Amino acid sequence: MAPFRIAVFASGSGSNFQAIVDAVQAGKLDVEVGLLVCDKPGAKVTERAAAAGVETFAFRPKDYASKEAYESEIVKRLQEKGIDLIVLAGYMRIVSDTMLGPFEGRIINIHPSLLPAFPGLDAIGQAVAYGVKVTGVTVHFVDGGMDTGPIIAQRTVELSEGDTADTVAAKIHPVEHQLYPYVIQGIRDGKVTLSGDGRRVNWKQ
Ligand code: GRF
Repeated sequence: MAPFRIAVFASGSGSNFQAIVDAVQAGKLDVEVGLLVCDKPGAKVTERAAAAGVETFAFRPKDYASKEAYESEIVKRLQEKGIDLIVLAGYMRIVSDTMLGPFEGRIINIHPSLLPAFPGLDAIGQAVAYGVKVTGVTVHFVDGGMDTGPIIAQRTVELSEGDTADTVAAKIHPVEHQLYPYVIQGIRDGKVTLSGDGRRVNWKQ
């Protein structure tokens, strides 16, 4: 089978990028990580990519005339590399039609809450401040909204008395690191399909 190529987009630490790379190296995820796209040159994730031998496209949005301009550049690079799936992993930007068009249904994101609860920034802090007893992790297809696309998979994480945003984050991250490679493999295997109404995601056994 031809290799299934993914590009990971990240802005910061890149622990999810690392989990994906580790899963590939361990033979648990049958994809090729063809490119890291990073909007913050110097972010820790770029060091992780260098260590893993993954090519990086790092750019500063302010060096471009518009969002359309940098997204067009990204699309060109993704197409040159034959990227099949875009994996957003802590990429702190909304994706616009410039990328959504050519990669329709082929962009996914991971978010540290049970969507539709707590979209946007600091989802873990929002959940702790709200006082929820259960939160979790969501992987979803990306549309033009903020964490609004069809949900592919979710996992729960329970909060205990005295939990803080930091302690909840420490529970959530390992769940993310397990769930994201699993979902990517499911997509790679053709198990994940979107229903006709474009909202429900079905998993084939
Ligand atoms: C993760 O919590 C992810 O859910 C969110 O951003 C964070 C990225 O963390 N979208 P890392 O850079 O992968 O460590």
